[in-house]
Amino acid sequence: MQKILLTGVNGQVGHALKTKFLHDEVIALSREQLDLTKVHDIRRVVREVKPNLIINPAAYTAVDKAESELDLAFAVNATAPQILAEEAARLHAALINFSTDYVYDGTKNSAYLESDAVNPINGYGKSKLAGEEAIRAVGLPHLILRTSWVYGAYGKNFLRTILRLGAERDSLGIVADQCGAPTSSESIADGVVQLVNAWQPSLENQTGVYHFTNTGETSWHGFSCEIINEYNRLAVDSNWPALKTGVDSIAAITTAEYPTPAARPANSRLDNTKLRMIFGIELPSWQLSLQQVMQTLTY
Ligand SMILES: NC(=O)c1ccc[n+]([C@@H]2O[C@H](COP(=O)([O-])OP(=O)(O)OC[C@H]3O[C@@H](n4cnc5c(N)ncnc54)[C@H](OP(=O)(O)O)[C@@H]3O)[C@@H](O)[C@H]2O)c1
Repeated sequence: MQKILLTGVNGQVGHALKTKFLHDEVIALSREQLDLTKVHDIRRVVREVKPNLIINPAAYTAVDKAESELDLAFAVNATAPQILAEEAARLHAALINFSTDYVYDGTKNSAYLESDAVNPINGYGKSKLAGEEAIRAVGLPHLILRTSWVYGAYGKNFLRTILRLGAERDSLGIVADQCGAPTSSESIADGVVQLVNAWQPSLENQTGVYHFTNTGETSWHGFSCEIINEYNRLAVDSNWPALKTGVDSIAAITTAEYPTPAARPANSRLDNTKLRMIFGIELPSWQLSLQQVMQTLTY
């Protein structure tokens, strides 16, 4: 049995993870219980809990706001993981941290490999990359899981936004020239449990960065169409209210037509071969995960 310190339990991934470990002791902390901008609190809590493993899904994830709150984004996404890593190293514990497709600039024509050059094009991506580098510099057994387009039945995310807008509006315009893999928080949590069982932190060749997404790819436009289709399919048997937006009334627009404070990479596709080769783990397809999540929705 392991003692796991889990941060960010009110976030999408933290919430999904907190009930998944049936045979381990999990100390699950919210921002109120551990504010990751407070370095002394991080050190004190880790020393009190004395975990074997720290899992840190807490992060500053407001991509656009990060452009104007860069110091805060770096405090949570770079300094805090560094302190967690230092404290874990003192205890000879291991660390699992999460990172993002936004460490890449998106100019590659095919899916990114972990060995490809990073070049973040927004402040959030820079802060997450700084977190990766800080953990690596500490040199403890660690896994850095780069995921993408996270959504779930719980939390603030694209799925819930589309369902809300679909109920309110007759038509939508959704960006069609950014591609990637929508990844459910549930499938991330299930994958992390498999990883924790498969990982031997004493094996140095297992430490490092892994791409960790649902398989397959689509655009935000493709994702929104699948959400509406799946909703309409489930609505028949579940007596859900009809949406105003139909799939045919979702216009495919360009990134240029939907300007945001932070730039986004056009290509967010992450090749997950390394995860499969080292650990024999593969997350489900994004369509299957979407179906599973939507079956848990209630209206
Ligand atoms: N969301 C995505 O699309 C996406 C894409 C790629 C990678 N990732 C990465 O995947 C991981 C999990 O993301 P997620 O989607 O679960 O994020 P999320 O839903 O935004 O949750 C982040 C959590 O971090 C907490 N947090 C923020 N600042 C904090 C602080 N100062 N101290 C303590 N906790 C703090 C938040 O607390 P409150 O609940 O109090 O706000 C929230 O519970 C993160 O590392 C993220 O960078 C996410």
